[in-house]
Amino acid sequence: MAYRILGIESSCDETAAAIVDNERGVLSSRLFSQIKLHQPFGGVVPEIASRSHLDKIPVIVQEALQAAKTSLDDINALAVTTTPGLPGSLLIGLCFAKGISLARNLPLIGVNHLEGHIFSPCIEHDVPFPHLSITASGGHTALYLVHSFGKYKLLGQTLDDAAGEAFDKVAKLIGLDYPGGPAIERYAREVDFKDFFKYPRNKLKSLDFSFSGLKTAVFYDLVKKELCDFTTKKFNLDAPNAHDIQHQVASSLLVCIADIFKQKLAHALAQHPEVQAATFAGGVACNKYIKQQLQELCDKHQTQFFTPSPQYCTDNAAMIAFVGQYKARNKEFSNLTLDIF
Ligand code: KG4
Ligand code: ZN
Repeated sequence: MAYRILGIESSCDETAAAIVDNERGVLSSRLFSQIKLHQPFGGVVPEIASRSHLDKIPVIVQEALQAAKTSLDDINALAVTTTPGLPGSLLIGLCFAKGISLARNLPLIGVNHLEGHIFSPCIEHDVPFPHLSITASGGHTALYLVHSFGKYKLLGQTLDDAAGEAFDKVAKLIGLDYPGGPAIERYAREVDFKDFFKYPRNKLKSLDFSFSGLKTAVFYDLVKKELCDFTTKKFNLDAPNAHDIQHQVASSLLVCIADIFKQKLAHALAQHPEVQAATFAGGVACNKYIKQQLQELCDKHQTQFFTPSPQYCTDNAAMIAFVGQYKARNKEFSNLTLDIF
């Protein structure tokens, strides 16, 4: 039976809507990014995020319906992110979905944002099961063993900061704009991804991650080099070598984080010889250098490697509607009592 899902995502700083059809795939995926609203603050401001979602969500949902050349008459269910995320932001998406559900008598499907990221590589690729999945973004970093659609086991996760958070915080420390990941990658490419400072790789034996020590190591190194003030954490952009140091920090940080991912994936592949593939998703998976490093590792292991295209790496509603599809198949519906978290 043909099933058409409207997906809604508003967990952080993107207001997104998408239409996914079980026979024709993603029909549309639209979003409004709040990056410019949060940029002056160097990170996401929750109240600004909620107010912007409230403003943009009707427009984005309309746009998604129009771009898919469909209407609510043809939608069979509503998939909406209910966790994890900023409470005020999640509530906007959920309440909007509830409004449509009430008006159109459509079933609701609550979707975990992380599950959306885990299965996002499957939107465009036929990824075999079981596989390993690394998800890395500004709010989370984790490694999963994925058995089938909707069935997955957490193998390890960050014990402190997320990988994207490390990129964002270090970028801020050296005077680069939010979000830091793309800027760090650009700067690192300009110096050929050289590892200038050899920051410490964490020594965790498990499949867990830790990135906060790395950020502190960068900070202390900059203080030692007299490029950063210990109290104000302000980077001295007027120093004669400031431009070079920004590039060297960016490159060393990226190489270090790529090494950490490589080491964890190698470890997980050794522990799980049954896996047929590995995937890498979330905002950090936009990073071409890390992708290439993981691809090389998987080639050596003769394991297939998949990443989503960038539009499905960063937050989007297509991944939410995609999860909604297999949940609809399993009749995992909720009613109007659906809540966040
Ligand atoms: O998935 P996402 O859009 O939102 C969250 O769920 O957090 O990920 C955003 C994160 C930010 O921390 C950003 O710096 C990082 O993904 N990011 C990157 C790149 N593009 C985005 N990190 C490294 N390299 C990139 N090219
Ligand atoms: Zn995300």
